[in-house]
Amino acid sequence: MQLYIDTANLDEIKEAHDLGVLDGVTTNPTLIAREGVDYGKRLAEICEVVKGPVSAEVIALDAAGMIEEGVQRAEIAENIVVKLPCTVDGLKACKSLTDRDIRTNLTLCFQPLQALMVAKAGAFLVSPFIGRIDDIGEDGMDLIHRIRAIYDNYGFETKILAASIRHPKHMLDCALAGADVATVPFKVIAQFMQHPLTDKGLDAFLADYQKTFGR
Ligand code: E4P
Repeated sequence: MQLYIDTANLDEIKEAHDLGVLDGVTTNPTLIAREGVDYGKRLAEICEVVKGPVSAEVIALDAAGMIEEGVQRAEIAENIVVKLPCTVDGLKACKSLTDRDIRTNLTLCFQPLQALMVAKAGAFLVSPFIGRIDDIGEDGMDLIHRIRAIYDNYGFETKILAASIRHPKHMLDCALAGADVATVPFKVIAQFMQHPLTDKGLDAFLADYQKTFGR
């Protein structure tokens, strides 16, 4: 299972990269706006640090505009993946960019037929947003299971990138459900190696050792 970080903050990206297990990065217009920086410049900075896929979202809503922006974003670095919305225009742009050998990430996926259609259009990644589905009282994980079943039924190679992950249980459930990738905020990644019994056990080991050997 691959792990991406879901942020446009360079310090967080560098810190996550230093863990040695980071496979890629996802950004979106909200995350860039939060940083208050130029989108293209920040993408270039991120691609200097992380050599795996870096998702760069388009702002245009029409297919022609998305394709134009997508081609420009792809020129920033070879590991840029163009992020397009799961709309009819996004689908057309996905097909066109795929035909030009530009990888795409189809985002804002909230139902399985969107995932089926974008796989047919050659998407490299599809991003089901599980947290936002939970937020409206439905089951985000059910979407991951359904997409996994559809992709396995037909051998689609599009990778399922579980997005909108809010807590470690989401990550665990995605791993059990067979999501190919999860994109996770830094504060959630930071919880993945935590357990109180690990801390307690370590304290006890050190205390016992010091009692006998004095240091
Ligand atoms: C993924 O690519 C999105 O940027 C992200 O996961 C959205 O998460 P949110 O629902 O917490 O905003």
